[in-house]
Amino acid sequence: MKIMDYQKVKAIKILQEQEVGSKVKVNGWVRTKRESKNVVFIAINDGSIIYNLQIVADPAGFDENLIKDITTGACLSVQGEVVESAGGGQKVELQAEKIDLLGKADPDEYPLQPKRHSLEFLREISHLRPRTNTFSAVFRVRHAMSYAVHKFFHERGFFNVHTPIITASDAEGAGEMFRVTALDIDNPARTETGEVDYSMDFFERETNLTVSGQLEAELFALALTEVYTFGPTFRAENSNTSRHLAEFWMIEPEMAFYDLNDNMDLAEDFLKYIIRYVLEHCKEDIEFLNKRAIDEDKMKKMGERSDMTLLEHLNFVINNDFERITYTEAINILRNSKPNKKKKFQFIIEEWGADLQSEHERYLVEKHFRKPVILYDYPKEIKAFYMRQNEDGKTVRAMDILFPRLGEIVGGSQREERMDKLTQRMKECGISEEELWWFMDTRRFGTAPHSGFGLGFERFIQFVTGIGNIRDVIPFPRARGMAEF
Ligand code: 4AD
Ligand code: MG
Repeated sequence: MKIMDYQKVKAIKILQEQEVGSKVKVNGWVRTKRESKNVVFIAINDGSIIYNLQIVADPAGFDENLIKDITTGACLSVQGEVVESAGGGQKVELQAEKIDLLGKADPDEYPLQPKRHSLEFLREISHLRPRTNTFSAVFRVRHAMSYAVHKFFHERGFFNVHTPIITASDAEGAGEMFRVTALDIDNPARTETGEVDYSMDFFERETNLTVSGQLEAELFALALTEVYTFGPTFRAENSNTSRHLAEFWMIEPEMAFYDLNDNMDLAEDFLKYIIRYVLEHCKEDIEFLNKRAIDEDKMKKMGERSDMTLLEHLNFVINNDFERITYTEAINILRNSKPNKKKKFQFIIEEWGADLQSEHERYLVEKHFRKPVILYDYPKEIKAFYMRQNEDGKTVRAMDILFPRLGEIVGGSQREERMDKLTQRMKECGISEEELWWFMDTRRFGTAPHSGFGLGFERFIQFVTGIGNIRDVIPFPRARGMAEF
């Protein structure tokens, strides 16, 4: 039988919109094949939707070797007629008229089998894991969230600014940066006193990968009023946790004429908007991930199980006003809390001024308030130099947003716009005014109150997808010892 090429469509279209009786061509990868004497069922998936499309073929009409080579992982191009499905599962299936085998997958070697693989194992084959249900769902949701980020800001008149990835400044003053150099590291240019001579390097100065686009975003906020960055950031910190990456994406809005309260309002609206968008546009994926999280939870010990499903967690965030309390109030709550008194926390809270760990943040959110929490007015010693100083001389207008399961998801502040206060704080922190002369200029010329925050995109995806480890929500994770793919 000779057929013309039918119109190419994706599985999502066939499953959701295509009329019975229409003729189509679909391409995808084989998930499973079941065969009996008179019929072959092939489930293929093209990543457009979580569900597989069932192909039905009469083995009499096809070459025996072709059918044999249709194994899990192989790539097919199938043409045929959309028919009502005889079985349960789905409404329609494709009755095959022509099957082209685009790429074989030797079943003895193909590492993905139609069974449950651990996320740890799949991380070792990150190049193939998007072909699994879990990862395809996560990455479709990631896409939707990314789109919704731009949509949210665009609708509010914010401008997207692409801040540089290579930078000569250390925005957070944290010093955990990756150096960028074109010097010959075995034999670098040296100064007369023997130090590496960066003036001979490509940029004629020391440069690193950025840890944040904030300082540059501030320059644009003091010109375009409301802006945001959304780009990769890099931190050479050695935290080998399920919440840290060496390369992660951050969304950083920066707004002139916003005080800390305006900043909190924006952040809360923003987080809720994205979650609502995903609930509305990624129904099948969230349903799948919700079931997955429930199964995962069942395998945990009694005490470690979550008291909320993924869907309940998402609704918990959109349906609650975030609790806003000062750092000082939080310390008092934590000091008097049961796990602190019974020494159940790994880090016992003793004094005002202590940096909070995620165990403390989670206690406040999950046990004490039972809603997302915004902590503000932190001690200046544990925050960056650019945060606006309060009258008490001890605290700054910082705010962190704390979420269930994760702890800190957003960090931000009102910025110090007063030149004298800023330079005094920079001196205390040992940050050079000369190097940041361009940043200082914004305070010198037409300074204005302004605020901003940073959302760790992957942490937010973890929350929305219920995935436990941050390495499983970014296509190719970069962490200590991890840059294979
Ligand atoms: O709190 P951070 O360090 O804040 C800043 O970088 C500010 N410049 C933001 C701003 O005000 N414009 O980082 C912001 C967020 C954190 O709350 C966390 O969600 C995420 O970025 N984050 C990380 N995510 C993954 N891996 C890491 N190593 C991260 N470090 C921070
Ligand atoms: Mg922070």
